[in-house]
Amino acid sequence: MQFLLNHFNYTTCFYLIISLIYHINATLSNKSSQQTDQDCATEKINKYSKEANTKYIKYLNLIQDARRNYKHCNTNRCNCHAPVMAHDLKIFKEKGISEKQVQAVKSKGTKYQIINHKLYRDSNCMFPSRCAGIEHFLLEILPQLPDMEFVVNTRDWPQIPKKYGIFGPVFSFSKTDEYNDIMYPAWAFWEGGPAISLYPRGIGRWDTHRQKLGKLGNSTKWEDKIPKVFFRGSRTCSERDPLILLSRENPDLVDAQYTKNQAWKSEVDTLHAPPAEEVSFEKHCNYKYLFNFRGVAASFRFKHILLCKSLVFHVGNEWQEFFYPALKPWIHYIPVDAKATKEQLQELIEFAFNYDDVAKEIAENGYSMIWNNLKMKDVGCYWKKLLKKYAGLLNYKPSRDKTLVEITN
Ligand SMILES: *[C@@H]1O[C@H](CO)[C@@H](O)[C@H](O)[C@H]1NC(C)=O
Ligand SMILES: *[C@@H]1O[C@H](CO)[C@@H](O)[C@H](O)[C@H]1NC(C)=O
Repeated sequence: MQFLLNHFNYTTCFYLIISLIYHINATLSNKSSQQTDQDCATEKINKYSKEANTKYIKYLNLIQDARRNYKHCNTNRCNCHAPVMAHDLKIFKEKGISEKQVQAVKSKGTKYQIINHKLYRDSNCMFPSRCAGIEHFLLEILPQLPDMEFVVNTRDWPQIPKKYGIFGPVFSFSKTDEYNDIMYPAWAFWEGGPAISLYPRGIGRWDTHRQKLGKLGNSTKWEDKIPKVFFRGSRTCSERDPLILLSRENPDLVDAQYTKNQAWKSEVDTLHAPPAEEVSFEKHCNYKYLFNFRGVAASFRFKHILLCKSLVFHVGNEWQEFFYPALKPWIHYIPVDAKATKEQLQELIEFAFNYDDVAKEIAENGYSMIWNNLKMKDVGCYWKKLLKKYAGLLNYKPSRDKTLVEITN
């Protein structure tokens, strides 16, 4: 991450603004002290009204704290995501993983074996395209992997709640803090992503989207983006309602509409309005502000819209994917409480409207984090490191399970 260096002057100004805001009453009436920072701080602070500065100081403070605590990670060899695998495997560290534990969780997903650099799998996979999306990465790194066996859950939902039920190693693409599943990079980086009318065969390969959106994010000027919040998605959960309602009341601020999902029956399913057309990721990039909500579990949309170099409002912090923890609230995106009311949403959005340069910098940081640390290479790297560490924890040598079939390219 280079943003602090690149934006050193800006950051300096930012701290000056913050400290000035603390003393705003005094400084506004103290001409000589204003003049000492003539070059940047005064210019910026005069842009915002006293009312705005007072109202939004809580957000400015949160941003300041986040910047103070932010540690740059090393972009080499998927290092930025390393704490995630360490965290997920920690519970197995002391005693290792036994054959019995793997047996116990077999029904929670699809069993894989790697023996002598060959890949084997249960002959049936619940979602064949998801398995194919996973196997693309496994086959690539096969020559570098030791013998092991593991269970991969291809459902959306994690399988090993901390509070009750069986315990053992299950790989899931997404989870909350209430689960002991081990997160792996979702199949959808390669294939098996959700199919909507715009992407009828699934949302498609991440490397292709990354290139296209990354170019667009760089070539669309912040100043030229439509200064509105934009959202299109189906009503997978009612957490999305307040933004839709705000949009209906305040169309100059927000353009958020529900699209049909597979279960759509009537306008009740789109909150009593006709369903809107789905909109490509590329068209999202035309807007300055974008919203990301969870879906059933984490939403595949997040990484795509961050590459628009628009400001992303990310709702809720429960549902994670392996790369989420590297993204920090107030640094790379604006965090939004999942239970935020329409009024709270409006205040947060107006904050971003009022502090355009702050918004722009967060948008740029979000772009850089994804662009630099979520290359296809990083995804393969995560799989490789994760499985090597996992294999190191097995306290038995797996022998070839004859019920499994070999998977090849
Ligand atoms: C007002 O300006 C004077 C002269 O620069 C400075 O010494 C003083 O600290 C300032 N007061 C405030 C409240 O900023
Ligand atoms: C976008 O710009 C950044 C910063 O200049 C650069 O590192 C990155 O490679 C660019 N992305 C694309 C797709 O060209």
